[in-house]
Amino acid sequence: MLPQIKRLWTIINDFIVRPIASYKFDKTYNISTSGEIEREFLDAQNKNSLHHATYYQAVPMEYLNILFDLLPDDFTQAHFVDVGCGKGRACFYACQTYQRVTGIDFSPSLITDAQKNLQTFSGAVKGEIKFELRDASLYDLPDEPLLVYLYNPFDEYILRKFLIRNMEHFSKHKSRIAYVNDVCHDLLITCGFTREMKYNARRGISIYSLNW
Ligand SMILES: C[S@@+](CC[C@H](N)C(=O)[O-])C[C@H]1O[C@@H](n2cnc3c(N)ncnc32)[C@H](O)[C@@H]1O
Repeated sequence: MLPQIKRLWTIINDFIVRPIASYKFDKTYNISTSGEIEREFLDAQNKNSLHHATYYQAVPMEYLNILFDLLPDDFTQAHFVDVGCGKGRACFYACQTYQRVTGIDFSPSLITDAQKNLQTFSGAVKGEIKFELRDASLYDLPDEPLLVYLYNPFDEYILRKFLIRNMEHFSKHKSRIAYVNDVCHDLLITCGFTREMKYNARRGISIYSLNW
């Protein structure tokens, strides 16, 4: 594609296609997950974690579609855990195929929004879905096989703390990490993870597992 056409498509995608897809998802399921909240407006208690956070933006629908096409069917047996779930968009997408879905976030108001969404959600919930107020740097993953989903929630500092704290979990359960916008790819490799799959979207979408 010519560079000018590519740029034009990016603009159309960002300002028209994506917002429409987000609006349609929210409207279809009677929830509200759109919008952005800058980091300085996130109401997390832990200032150190806040310093290393990105901002709130729900994952674009096209990335969710790509990721879920990439994931083999047998992954649906795993418990889906969105670390940095915000208002819960990825969880509401996942709960239609995954038996167990958990979203955690360090922002009380975002967790309240996710719980409100859960009350109005009109889609099918295959099993159970819940949201918890938790800080990833202090979070012990549930003791069972998981698909840990990340949409670029924080920088390497918090990701390192999260991985080190849960390393035993990853070697015990062979849980996988589904990472959308995989900016900390190098850290995962340094910590002993292997990239099993990758889709080259504008932002990388990758699945990792620990070498064993
Ligand atoms: C880019 S948004 C992703 C939202 C959601 N996962 C999705 O796919 O739509 C990043 C989220 O990570 C959360 N976050 C950032 N640092 C965190 C931390 N240390 N612990 C828990 N949540 C965190 C933010 O509050 C924000 O909601």
